[in-house]
Amino acid sequence: MRARMAEFAFANNRLLDKSPARCDCAATMDRRADLSARKIIIDTDPGQDDAVAILLALASPTEIDVLGITTVAGNVPLQRTQTNARIVCEVAGRPEVKVHAGRAAPLERDLVTAEHVHGRTGLDGPELWEPTMPLQAQDGVEFIIDTLRREPPGTVTLCPLGPLSNIGAAFRRAPDIIDRVQEIVLMGGAYFEVGNITPAAEFNIYVDPEAAAEVLASGVRITMMPLDVTHKALTTPARVAAFRALGTRVGLFTAEMLEFFERFDVEKYGSEGGPLHDPCVIAYLIRPELFCGRHINVEIETSSPLTLGMTVADWWGVTDRSPNALFMGDVDASGFFDLLTERLGRL
Ligand code: BDR
Ligand code: CA
Repeated sequence: MRARMAEFAFANNRLLDKSPARCDCAATMDRRADLSARKIIIDTDPGQDDAVAILLALASPTEIDVLGITTVAGNVPLQRTQTNARIVCEVAGRPEVKVHAGRAAPLERDLVTAEHVHGRTGLDGPELWEPTMPLQAQDGVEFIIDTLRREPPGTVTLCPLGPLSNIGAAFRRAPDIIDRVQEIVLMGGAYFEVGNITPAAEFNIYVDPEAAAEVLASGVRITMMPLDVTHKALTTPARVAAFRALGTRVGLFTAEMLEFFERFDVEKYGSEGGPLHDPCVIAYLIRPELFCGRHINVEIETSSPLTLGMTVADWWGVTDRSPNALFMGDVDASGFFDLLTERLGRL
């Protein structure tokens, strides 16, 4: 039964592949001019796939300037996500990166975590240690606010890889920063893939739907990497072997994380590997032409117990609601993994 469901899901995805009628690739490509040497804040809940996203960003200083990393409760509680973010910076050989702990809970709800996917630590797989690089004293939400007020307007991109609690809290506390954000490029949501934590919702949006709804309504330019994309960015034995074959600490750490991480989705979907969700956000900043999607309206369900956290995405343009996000639908998975392997090889 499980295998048949998986076949259906992946066959459905294939309908989307490279179909110009369904993706507005030109709109995606138009953005290339804006995408060099971007100043970003990575907002994250590591998470093995978050960890690979951080490694990719730190390996790409020509295109990406990481102003800081803010952590949020999500895959595992905050105490673990801030520890994990620092472990990843140490693996990358970048102990000077500023890591700030943000919110320990969603804006209005109790925290839901995902140890069943990521393991007890969130980074299960490799042997972990207590990081020695410091956690910054400043709260993560305050760091986001201060950074956006300090940097010239329109020059800082936010990259949320977990629940949107820190971003939502920053926007509530300091509405003046909203107009100063260059863009939000986030991992979250789903349309064709519908949900992973519930039948109707993707994890990051489900955990803090109020924050997600406020971010989507903020008027900031938003690019979303939903499950429709990330479920095509699958680790395979050959792709994991390529990380291991780098022969470096980063390569080994990545391979060991992914070998643990993929077991959950392989069992659930009958797929060849696990989806590398969060690195899609960073890869988009480096090589936007690997992705394509549509400018559409996306609303978040915040009240129905049955469909809480659903991203109601008007992919087919059946409403008059104004577009508020570039919602991605496809990725060149081979190009994505080539980029990842090449960049992680630089660390
Ligand atoms: C998202 O949820 C987390 O488990 C992953 O890190 C990713 O950000 C996928 O639904
Ligand atoms: Ca994440």
